[in-house]
Amino acid sequence: MQCSWKAVILLALASIAIQYTAIRTFTSKTFHLCPMPSPQNCGLAAQDTDPSFERGCEEYPYFIYNASRKTHILVLATTRSGSSFVGQLLNQHSDVFYLFEPLYHVQTALIPRLSHSRNAADRRVMLGASRDLLRSLYGCDLHFLESYIKPPPANHTTDKLFRRGASRALCSQPVCDAFGPGDTNVEEGDCVKKCASVNMTLAAEACRERRHMAIKIVRVPEIGDLRALVEDPRLNLKVIQLVRDPRGILSSRIETFRDTYRLWRIWRATGRKPYNLDLTQLTMVCDDFLSSVSTGLSHPYWLKGKYMLVRYEDLARSPLQKTKEIYDYLGLPMDKNVVDWIQANTRGSNELLAKHKYGTVRDSAANAESWRLKLSIEMVDYTQTVCQKILNILGYKSVKTAEELKNMSLSLVQDKSFVPLS
Ligand SMILES: *[C@@H]1O[C@H](CO)[C@@H](O)[C@H](O)[C@H]1NC(C)=O
Ligand SMILES: *[C@@H]1O[C@H](CO)[C@@H](O)[C@H](O)[C@H]1NC(C)=O
Ligand SMILES: *[C@@H]1O[C@H](CO)[C@@H](O)[C@H](O)[C@H]1NC(C)=O
Ligand SMILES: *[C@@H]1O[C@H](CO)[C@@H](O)[C@H](O)[C@H]1NC(C)=O
Repeated sequence: MQCSWKAVILLALASIAIQYTAIRTFTSKTFHLCPMPSPQNCGLAAQDTDPSFERGCEEYPYFIYNASRKTHILVLATTRSGSSFVGQLLNQHSDVFYLFEPLYHVQTALIPRLSHSRNAADRRVMLGASRDLLRSLYGCDLHFLESYIKPPPANHTTDKLFRRGASRALCSQPVCDAFGPGDTNVEEGDCVKKCASVNMTLAAEACRERRHMAIKIVRVPEIGDLRALVEDPRLNLKVIQLVRDPRGILSSRIETFRDTYRLWRIWRATGRKPYNLDLTQLTMVCDDFLSSVSTGLSHPYWLKGKYMLVRYEDLARSPLQKTKEIYDYLGLPMDKNVVDWIQANTRGSNELLAKHKYGTVRDSAANAESWRLKLSIEMVDYTQTVCQKILNILGYKSVKTAEELKNMSLSLVQDKSFVPLS
């Protein structure tokens, strides 16, 4: 009885494994299939196999891995939640190959009209394509991305790779010869100007040469959508879910996406909520956070050791300490470049801030809560009503009066630690 039960599980796992193998062959990693017992020869299966091989198979049910395999890092975020900042904390590490939101290309290719489609069918198509692309990218198959880039790259070369300048690896040798190894702090704009087009073949080589890979995405709603990737044994995926106070996200989007959030600006300026305001621009953030964070904090077995919840406000308040925690979770040593970058980029300077609308340079601590001076009490009140549940879970305090809202010596971020489950 017990034997056949085991055999069924093994067969199921093996068939999943074979499907994965059929879908894509990862050339950068070595693995092979373990012998597969069948119900007929249960108990005899291991007889004619090498004992060391068998031991490996017990540890990992169906693959044996190269012990020095890569850590694949995914930053799961939403726009204006501080994801560029977190991306930089990984990008600055000399062993990490970093990509800034490759799903931009999937979206512009598949759903060009809408920036964030709420159509369920569109969403499914987008998610399926996104997962396939991420899987390929983690295998350094950057050519797969080319099919989404417009216009299609000629001779595997393109100058349309989204936010290429945000990736150190794509602004240094061998991908770009414009800067020497001593140029550690290349500005995104300088990289785009001086490096010309990206040769995707060279970029893939650079990817294979780095020991780890990090990708930041803002176009996948929640962690449950990534389960197939998290469970893929060849990926060794570690997810960092970044959250931020939804009131801060709203305020930042109103400043940044001036067209899309125009009606919110009208509300702020006139004190009257426009009747045709698209409330889902706010509620979607809270709903997605709620389902994702609820899943993450319920500690399901498939996220064991693979999920860390980070509040942007905590990073802003103690960037070094929080970054250290992130690297501990990833199991990577934090290198000097990361420390230097934090020290150079978290000191306050409003001049710099003004220059970097999409950038990461900011007086982090003050800025994380500066939305309190920008939103009206009515907008805050509305947000607190529709987002009440997630605000509570994440430890963001509500305010009742305009005085409380503007009183910056009263922090709205409750101390709370979300320890990653190991
Ligand atoms: C694992 O891969 C690395 C890099 O490809 C290689 O140098 C190393 O020899 C491999 N180790 C084993 C045990 O196969
Ligand atoms: C692609 O490479 C071929 C051969 O080197 C060359 O003739 C062609 O002009 C290139 N195409 C573009 C668009 O650069
Ligand atoms: C891109 O890089 C590869 C690898 O070095 C090279 O063979 C190829 O010619 C390059 N393509 C172009 C268009 O320069
Ligand atoms: C602001 O908050 C602080 C800390 O709670 C409090 O001591 C102070 O009285 C408040 N100031 C105003 C003007 O409400």
